[in-house]
This record gives sequence, structure tokens and C-alpha cells, in this order.
Amino acid sequence: MEKLADIGVVGLAVMGENLVLNMESKGFRVACYNRTVDKVDAFLAGRGQGKNLVGCRSLEELVASLEPPRRIMFMVRAGAAVDQLIDSLAPLLEPGDILVDGGNSSYHDTTRRCADLEKKGLLYVGAGVSGGEEGALHGPSIMPGGNAAAWPALQPILQAIAAKAADGAPCCEWLGPDGSGHFVKMVHNGIEYGDMQLICEAYQLLSQGLGMAAEEIQPIFADWNTRELDSYLIQITADILGHMDAETGKPTVDLILDTAGQKGTGKWTSQVGLDLGVAIPQIAEAVFARCLSAVKDERVAAKSYLLGPEGTFGKEGGANKGVNADKDAASFVKQLEKAVYAAKICSYAQGFQLLRTASMEYGWNLHFGDIARIWREGCIIRARFLGTITEAYETDPELANLMLAPYFREVLAGAQAAWRSVLSTAIGLGVPVPVLAASLSYYDGYRCERLPANLLQAQRDYFGAHTYERIDRPRGEFFHTNWTGTGGSTASSTYSV
Ligand code: 6PG
Repeated sequence: MEKLADIGVVGLAVMGENLVLNMESKGFRVACYNRTVDKVDAFLAGRGQGKNLVGCRSLEELVASLEPPRRIMFMVRAGAAVDQLIDSLAPLLEPGDILVDGGNSSYHDTTRRCADLEKKGLLYVGAGVSGGEEGALHGPSIMPGGNAAAWPALQPILQAIAAKAADGAPCCEWLGPDGSGHFVKMVHNGIEYGDMQLICEAYQLLSQGLGMAAEEIQPIFADWNTRELDSYLIQITADILGHMDAETGKPTVDLILDTAGQKGTGKWTSQVGLDLGVAIPQIAEAVFARCLSAVKDERVAAKSYLLGPEGTFGKEGGANKGVNADKDAASFVKQLEKAVYAAKICSYAQGFQLLRTASMEYGWNLHFGDIARIWREGCIIRARFLGTITEAYETDPELANLMLAPYFREVLAGAQAAWRSVLSTAIGLGVPVPVLAASLSYYDGYRCERLPANLLQAQRDYFGAHTYERIDRPRGEFFHTNWTGTGGSTASSTYSV
């Protein structure tokens, strides 16, 4: 009888196929199944030819071909397809068998599936996989969480196929129970949205604001990629800006319609921020920026009706008119690099605040240093500075906010003047920079000892008797004022969302 397979993979779209090839290249025998079984034959006759794979034409065959306890990873579309697959597979399995969802599932779904399957003795894991097609093939970042009893059997395979950081550590670590792995992947994607939009804003400041061509902006990103901003997304931006369209000879980027798509993980991150009451304005603004980009026709029509400043760089219009008349492009580019780095730090600080709150809310005991560590390579947000984030959390796991770590505090202090000046230039020129602007507002808001929420509380109390606390009384005591003399002294019941 043929040797049983080490792991099964369901779903042979490009990510699934590449993960199978990655596993096989690391010495594992992999059983493969796809709902449209022709795909299995095509894969085995094509990219999988001559490899240590078992092609399966039914879920029964897949289950029979696996070494117990069976390990089955699926790379199928998140949502109903995952539930259908689980419903079909579960009756075929035995207690102790392991199911791993490698798609971008909602963490709520993963938490529910973990609990349901645990009742049947099956071990369920939600593992976010980042790195796109290339990552899946050569080494992704993998974020597993769920039933911890599955980890000893999964660890040798998942850590073997994961990307390796410069120190040799695999970019895959057990993160916690329930849907914590998918939660971490969701936040990864939210941060990805923020990073991408921030880069796009820098690009628009240079192109629309300074009138630079794609070929002139390309070396700027390539240069930034040699210092603190060194990251995959900056690197691919430089590549993209240097790419010429074969048909027209023009920069390809200039020919692409300016409406962004989205599959929803950035939206989920923003929604969870609202649900958990955590300020993640940069991620939310990045999602809204995509929404605004999508109404192209409205924007084109509005151009003739909604006025803006008419100045050019160095001679901005509006409130800034003439203020920066002596500015030169080279020093602006230097300032912009500092502003982008400062904004990036604030964005990650927000992402980690969300992780921290979720960890407390759900009792997950997440290790933030580990999370930054497994994002160092393989994933879309891989970047040099993630190593520094790991160090910050290892030095102080209780860090209240990443911005407070000594290194980041200093960078933010050093970027002050440049950050503010870049924003005033953007405002003066009328170039939209929602994420960059949100970064500075977050920074200024977080360090503000007295926000105007005193007035806000007074307003709530005025129209709705919602009560307020006083600075000269202990916290937790609530007061109501009869502001008009006619509203009465009855406070509404206090409740918080
Ligand atoms: C990754 C990516 C991946 C996918 C995004 C795209 O980590 O490898 O995040 O998961 O490319 O989901 O998301 P949008 O279509 O929403 O931009």
C-alpha cells in the first residue's frame, strides 16, 4: 500500500496550489482535493507532475489517504463555502483530526467553528496566510490560532513552509485560542490598507503637488527603501513606478483607472475598531479613501463645482499662500520621508492598540512581540521596522502604546517639524491626504492632556440629560445640570455603547 500523506489541502486555486508545492518541496507528502475534480487532474498533470502528491477525487478519498491524526488545510473562499466544506468533512473524520482554514475568514466565524468542532472532538485552527501567490510558494507569513491541541501536529509543517526572517526564525507562531489567528491576519490587512494609502498619498503629493513624473518619483521610493521605510510595499511601489506600458511606452501606472477595489478585510478591521471602541483612524481613512476613489464619475463632475486652491508647490494657494515660497522640491522630499515614517509608526500603534484591546476583551493573551516577529518576512507588510517593534514589546510587554517606546518616541519627536510642514503644504495645495492627516491628529490627540470632550459632555447633558463627571470630584460620580432652568433635574440613565 502507498505511504499515507502527511497533510491534505482542499482548494487548488493559485494560493492552494502554491502552498501544496511549498509543502512538497519541504519533504511532505501532500494529498490534494478540489471540488471541481478536473482541477486535481490538471494540477497533477501540470505543475504537480512527478511530485510527492496524492490526487484525490472525493473528500472520502482525501480522508482515506491521510496519516492519522489527519491534518487538512483548506484554501477556499471565506464564508458559506467554508461551512459547507466543514459540514461535508466532519462526518468523515475521527476525534483528534485537525482542520485548518488558511483563507481570510472572519474571526467570529472561526471562533464559532472552533467551538462547534470541539464538541465533536475535532481540532479547528484559523490560520491567516499572507504573502500572495509568491509567498504561498516560497514562504508566507502564517498566523495560526484556535484549538491549541492541534499545534504540536501542525508546527513542523507550518513552520517549515513559512518564510524565515534574517535570524532564521520562522514567520509562523502559535498566536492564541478561538479566532485569534484570523483576527491577527485581519489587523495585518488593515495595516496593509493604511500603508498602501499612505504611500499613495506621498505619490500624489509628488505627482499632483510637485508635478513630478512617474520616472522622477521612482528613484525617490527606491531611495526611501534603503532606510527606515525599507519594506515590501515601498519596494514594489518603486518597481511599479518604473514599469512602462509595452503598447504605449508610457508609465503603466499613469494608464490605470483611479478606482480602488477591496475585498473587505480593511472594512472588517475598521468595524471591529468601532465595536471595541479603539481609535484606528488611519485604517478607517484608508478604507474610506478607497470608497471615495470608487465614485469616479461623481468626482469628475464635482471638479467643476467645488473650488480649491490654485497655487503650485512653493506658492500654495489658500491660507498658505506665499508662506512656503522658498521651498525646494529636494527638501520637501526629505520632509515627506520623515512624515511618512512618522505616520507609519502611528498606524502600527493603532493596529497594536486594536490587538491589545481584543486580547483583553477575549482573554487571548496575545504576544505582541511574536506578532511583529512573524510579520518580519513573507507577508505584505514585511518591513525593516517590524524588528524594532518586536524589541519594543520584548522590552516592555505592557507598553500602553507603541508610540511611547523610547525609539519611536524619539523618531516622532524628530519628525515633528517635517510632518507638520508636509501637511500644511498638502492642505495649501489641495491634495487630499486623509491617512497622513489622521496620523498627526491621532498623535496630537493621544498626547493631549485636555481634549474638548468636556464641552461634548456638556452638550450631551444639555440636550439629553446624559450626565458628566467633574474634575473636582472622584471618577464614577455623575452629575446633571439644569442648563436652561426649564429642563428639570432628572438625569437620563447612564449607559455606554
Ligand atoms: C495578504 C493579502 C491578501 C489579499 C488581500 C487583498 O496578506 O497576502 O492581504 O490577503 O491580497 O486580502 O485585499 P483587498 O482586495 O481588500 O485589497
